[in-house]
Amino acid sequence: MLASALAFPSQSVFAQSAAKADSEADALLAKMTLDEKIGQMTQVDMDALKKNMSDVQKYGFGSVLSGGSSDPADITAKGWLAATDEFQSYALKTRLKIPLLYGIDAVHGHNNVQGAVMFPHNVGLGATRNPKLIEKAARVTAEEVAGTGIRWAFAPCVAVAQNERWGRTYESFGENPELCSELGAAAVHGYQGKKLSDDGSVLACAKHFLADGGTTDGIDQGNSVGDDERMRKLFLAPYVATVKAGVGSIMVSYNSWNGVRMHANKDLLTGVLKGELGFKGFLISDWAAIDQITNNYKSCVEISINAGLDMIMIPNGPGQKNNYEEFIRYMKELVSEGKIPQSRIDDAVHRILREKYMLGIFENISTDPKLTEEVGSPEHRLVARECVRESLVLLKNSNRALPLSKNLKRLAVVGKGANDLGIQCGGWTIGWQGEAGQRVDGGTTILDGIRKEAAIKEIQVSYSANGENLSGADEIIVVVGEQPYAEMKGDRKDLNLAAADAALIKKAKGAGVPVVTILLSGRPLVLGNSFDMSDAFVAAWLPGSEGEGVADVLFGDYKFKGKLSRTWPRSNEQILNPTTVVEAPQFSYGFGLSY
Ligand code: BGC
Ligand code: BGC
Repeated sequence: MLASALAFPSQSVFAQSAAKADSEADALLAKMTLDEKIGQMTQVDMDALKKNMSDVQKYGFGSVLSGGSSDPADITAKGWLAATDEFQSYALKTRLKIPLLYGIDAVHGHNNVQGAVMFPHNVGLGATRNPKLIEKAARVTAEEVAGTGIRWAFAPCVAVAQNERWGRTYESFGENPELCSELGAAAVHGYQGKKLSDDGSVLACAKHFLADGGTTDGIDQGNSVGDDERMRKLFLAPYVATVKAGVGSIMVSYNSWNGVRMHANKDLLTGVLKGELGFKGFLISDWAAIDQITNNYKSCVEISINAGLDMIMIPNGPGQKNNYEEFIRYMKELVSEGKIPQSRIDDAVHRILREKYMLGIFENISTDPKLTEEVGSPEHRLVARECVRESLVLLKNSNRALPLSKNLKRLAVVGKGANDLGIQCGGWTIGWQGEAGQRVDGGTTILDGIRKEAAIKEIQVSYSANGENLSGADEIIVVVGEQPYAEMKGDRKDLNLAAADAALIKKAKGAGVPVVTILLSGRPLVLGNSFDMSDAFVAAWLPGSEGEGVADVLFGDYKFKGKLSRTWPRSNEQILNPTTVVEAPQFSYGFGLSY
């Protein structure tokens, strides 16, 4: 038996609490009016409610979320807790006192909380090949999320990203469905814990169903094509695994499958996921995604609910297009017109209530203050640092550039990315798209990490973003890579390393001492001769807030363990057309050197 399976509840414990939750959900459902049921199926963004918080009570919403840019005024853990508690207080004033399920994108740690730990993004976690570590990381994230009064994380993303042009490639564990299945299931175990009702457990959400990572040319929200075999082998596999791991919710994807929008795809949502795979949790739509089905909002509502969506994510409030009041009105009309069967509503609400019962929030809605205090704790940071160490992939090591020698006198560190937590953390960090220069409290840059280690070893370190510190250095570390981005804005046709980065590596090489290049990126980039000009080359992905994990390995205190979770293309043509380009990729899937 896999060691990681030990942490997971035995089937019988799980089955017992599920059976109990099912009967409790049935009993409550029997008491509910249609309005109350529709309320449970409605999820509204925090920003749409800021001026009308009491609408949570008025409409009895089942859920409130915070999208990537929807924050309270105070974004510390305590500030978030106060805000979510306030929303919850309105839900508890409703007739049936059904607690809210608050949801958030905690996709690499609790990433919108100032002071929380930022983990490496999934592309780096994929390189660790270590399900036990991924489970541990997800557990830390779950505890930090729960510490802010939130019991639902929109994670893990189990996209099997096929094309690096896609700006969400870094949210995927890798290109291989077995890897995504294994690590996705491990993450679900971490978030949901031994029991969902434990104080530090949160409901997981596998996303985005289905084939988000398979769109033609890697276009975000585009169309994925293929036959049944491609669908199952490449894209369905991680859902088989996460459903088996007991995932309580699944988010449906913006993209289409063979031209049919996933939010309208009854065959895949109801037929395959709920029918064939026996998924018992609930389906949440993506952000305003049903709005894209047709240009008539009422028909979007009808089609998506009948396709199998159980809860709808609505960013808009009164006065805006396709807002929650319209949604509720159309739902009522559609039920009374017989266009949405009552049985579909009851099924949806049953599924939502079942997960709420499994979470134990009817009995206990309070947040353990210990969890709040421990957001960003040193213990949590150590887990993230371990993830960083194991995610680094050594692509080249010549002239004994690494590990850094203890006899070095002067080490020059260059490149903006060496000293910038925003670049190091990437997208979905404090803000939706992330940002260079982003403030990330409690984090350690790669430069800070190197400085700490070097001080112990009595090596002098100089730093210059543009490489004005090269003369007299015995070795140079160059940190280059991508600027932060997230969905929609991160798609790129040209994946060449930026010209300024290539120039910096060339300048370093000109100093005539060994050059170690560290690449910060959400995907492999086309390296050209910058690779040849580097004596050692490290793919560090988007490592998050714990830069000391990089220093740990550079100085040889730990060995490189990471193995590529993606094939590394040699050219842009190869990304676009992998089957017809004859040249070999620069590195195969699974490549990675060590000391
Ligand atoms: C993204 C999801 C995310 C949701 C809520 C969407 O745009 O595709 O991954 O969970 O927004 O922020
Ligand atoms: C994202 C949200 C974000 C919004 C901004 C959505 O696609 O998922 O999290 O706040 O776009 O418009």
